[in-house]
Amino acid sequence: MTNHRTGHGCFISFEGIDGSGKSTQARLLVDALRAIGHDVVLTREPGGSPGAEEIRELVLQGDPDRWSAETELLLFTAARRDHLERTIRPALAAGKLVVCDRFADSTRMYQGLSRGDLRGKVDQLHSLMIGQDPDLTILIDMDPDTGLTRALGRQGKEERFEEFGPDLQRKMRAGFLALAQEFSPRFRVIDGNRPIETVAADVLAKTLAVLA
Ligand code: ADP
Ligand code: TYD
Repeated sequence: MTNHRTGHGCFISFEGIDGSGKSTQARLLVDALRAIGHDVVLTREPGGSPGAEEIRELVLQGDPDRWSAETELLLFTAARRDHLERTIRPALAAGKLVVCDRFADSTRMYQGLSRGDLRGKVDQLHSLMIGQDPDLTILIDMDPDTGLTRALGRQGKEERFEEFGPDLQRKMRAGFLALAQEFSPRFRVIDGNRPIETVAADVLAKTLAVLA
């Protein structure tokens, strides 16, 4: 498919609160698209390139107050710039589909809203340094308490944001739904409170409708 914003390829992101099922659904969508012959790159943020994966460790591990809100915004943006230069743009230029677990909408939410209102700075940095949004964004909408239980059940080392607790999860859920209104042409909202296979079928149907 040719896309006027990316030039080639198609750029699909998954968004939603922690534990909403983004990684699970991104993987299943990639499997389904490959099975019907698409050339797909699966990637994630923060991360998705060697340098950005190093920044991921800096931003997701350690004390919740490790960085100021502004420093954290710069680190997430630096990681995204590297990911875009080295992974996303080359894949799109080669005509591939790119499926990304979180992208700039996560920064609009987490850095934009979680510690004061930095949304204006987030948007300025985005247009200055990134300048690209996905063609399609799948928002997995999820009850915040269920999401947090699922996320904490994973017991990893990357807990900085999960440690901010249920209030942040609720704020993020409402924020993502508002973002879906703000950027309604590229967003599709999917109910994540259903069995994995049911959600996956919905995600695939909505993606194929956009690719058609
Ligand atoms: P995210 O990437 O949004 O944080 P994950 O895909 O890692 O979410 O899912 C978090 C946990 O919830 C995982 O253990 C996963 O197996 C489980 N999970 C994902 N989707 C569902 C679902 N629809 N129903 C029940 N459990 C789910
Ligand atoms: P992720 O690994 O997708 O976590 P989860 O699977 O729990 O959803 O992302 C890790 C955390 O990084 C998540 O809590 C959200 C946060 N994050 C930001 O704060 N800003 C960003 O720009 C991105 C991409 C993620």
